[in-house]
Amino acid sequence: MIGLVTGANRGLGYEMVKEGLLRGHTMLAGCRKGADEAYARDLLEQKTKYPDSLLILEMDVINEEMVKGAAERVRQKYGHIDFLVNNAGVLFEKMVMPGDAVADLNVEMFRKTLDVNVTGTAIVLKYFIGLLYASEDACIMNITSEAGHLTPQGYNYLAYSVSKHAANMYTQKIRNYLAEEKADRHMRIYMIHPGRMDTIMGKENAQIPPSESALGLLDILDRKKQIPDMDVPFINYRGEPMPY
Ligand SMILES: NC(=O)c1ccc[n+]([C@@H]2O[C@H](COP(=O)([O-])OP(=O)(O)OC[C@H]3O[C@@H](n4cnc5c(N)ncnc54)[C@H](OP(=O)(O)O)[C@@H]3O)[C@@H](O)[C@H]2O)c1
Repeated sequence: MIGLVTGANRGLGYEMVKEGLLRGHTMLAGCRKGADEAYARDLLEQKTKYPDSLLILEMDVINEEMVKGAAERVRQKYGHIDFLVNNAGVLFEKMVMPGDAVADLNVEMFRKTLDVNVTGTAIVLKYFIGLLYASEDACIMNITSEAGHLTPQGYNYLAYSVSKHAANMYTQKIRNYLAEEKADRHMRIYMIHPGRMDTIMGKENAQIPPSESALGLLDILDRKKQIPDMDVPFINYRGEPMPY
């Protein structure tokens, strides 16, 4: 299979590329700053092992022209992709917010969080959906978070939680669209909590290494792990249903 992962220079994105290559897939690694030597060091190491099956694509998910250009490059080289993992994400907030959660809102940070975590996902899908339609068996994974779950307690990670809840809603709407208007394509689409991972983003609350999450997600992509039919396909990296 040919698969694109966004935010692939580090964290979960990198582990997914590494595991995908090990399993024999052609992996397209979307990176905000491209294949810069210091920035994408781990990926460049993989490139020496898998020169023919790894393509590093410069792709800032909120830069529409860049995403469009990357999709065109992939179209010319491969003609289709079989899976897309919208993994790129940002968390700018501290566990405990300084000041008043409402009155002291950092508007710029709030906007940027929604821009990357929600609009970025929509931009990538906009330009890559044609390549997914061209696959015989396509799968879309939008990496969201348990933080997107509506809950009557807690106010931490305000902007991040809003963005991940919105990303779940976006995923569900697209899933409904695909089911209602593109039923002949048989595309799978999931919103996914990848677990609390030991990455730059998640190290404070980590329970698992990102490599464990990557294994689970590749098992779902490879259909080694079957997912039950669900009205709202919000699952964790083990394929278990999540409350939304
Ligand atoms: N870690 C956790 O415990 C946890 C829990 C639940 C959900 N998640 C979700 O899992 C996903 C991966 O998280 P992670 O823990 O691997 O985070 P991470 O280590 O902080 O990595 C985030 C990745 O997203 C990329 N990124 C950020 N903004 C981007 C943009 N505008 N365009 C392209 N790439 C961009 C980063 O690239 P740069 O290096 O260029 O910034 C980096 O590659 C995220 O969506 C996150 O919200 C994580």
